[in-house]
Amino acid sequence: MKIIIAKNKEEFDRIAADMVSQQLKDKPDSVLGLATGSTPIGLYAQLVERYKKGEIDFSKVKTFNLDEYKGLPKTHPQSYYFFMFKHLFSKVNIDPENIHIPNGEVEDSAKECEEYEKNIKEAGGIDLQILGIGHNGHIGFNEPGTPFESTTSLIDLDQRTIEANSRFFDSINEVPRQAISMGIKTIMQARKIVLMISGKDKAEIAAKAIKGPVTTQVPASVLQLHPFATVLLDQEAASLL
Ligand code: GLP
Repeated sequence: MKIIIAKNKEEFDRIAADMVSQQLKDKPDSVLGLATGSTPIGLYAQLVERYKKGEIDFSKVKTFNLDEYKGLPKTHPQSYYFFMFKHLFSKVNIDPENIHIPNGEVEDSAKECEEYEKNIKEAGGIDLQILGIGHNGHIGFNEPGTPFESTTSLIDLDQRTIEANSRFFDSINEVPRQAISMGIKTIMQARKIVLMISGKDKAEIAAKAIKGPVTTQVPASVLQLHPFATVLLDQEAASLL
């Protein structure tokens, strides 16, 4: 695992954007795995800026998002579909055909998950996967206890995740209890991975994920086994390393 500690928020976003930009320059038809949450918002803002300056081009890029809430319509401001269009897709020249986000609105989630896996394979696999981390160590929505062999599936959200994400909803009762998420195996199959961790409240889980034992109880610890995983932290998140 390569560890990078950024001096401040600006550097944190810039380093992540440099990695994505380099990937797109090396391979203009890259397949990107994308994450939601507050952590990568600055990265997406940087990518939009670079696109506007003509430094990067998304015309041949394919994307696969990590996850989506079950049951939220795409038009719901807290759906990850809405998030991705707001922060990135509506602002760059990506072909809508090349955007993939699990569909949380379909009734047959098992079929949706199977097709999602198939689509990733058909695209040639993910070249660069961006990840955030939950306070309980989850990646995507793979909660503690998820087997490392898991593929895309319907997940029951942890109470801690429901509580953490309730800050975005009017009340905790509105937070969906389930989500479709790429599996841990799906994530580990990406050729390169960048895990972004920011903030004091993530320091403890960052230390566990990076230095602790590799265990399904801390899903992000599996990244210690990946040959090309980078963990990008700000100084607060790195304070217990
Ligand atoms: C959600 C997402 C994760 C994300 C996590 C952390 O639960 N499913 O992919 O990493 O939140 O979010 P934040 O970056 O807001 O702390």
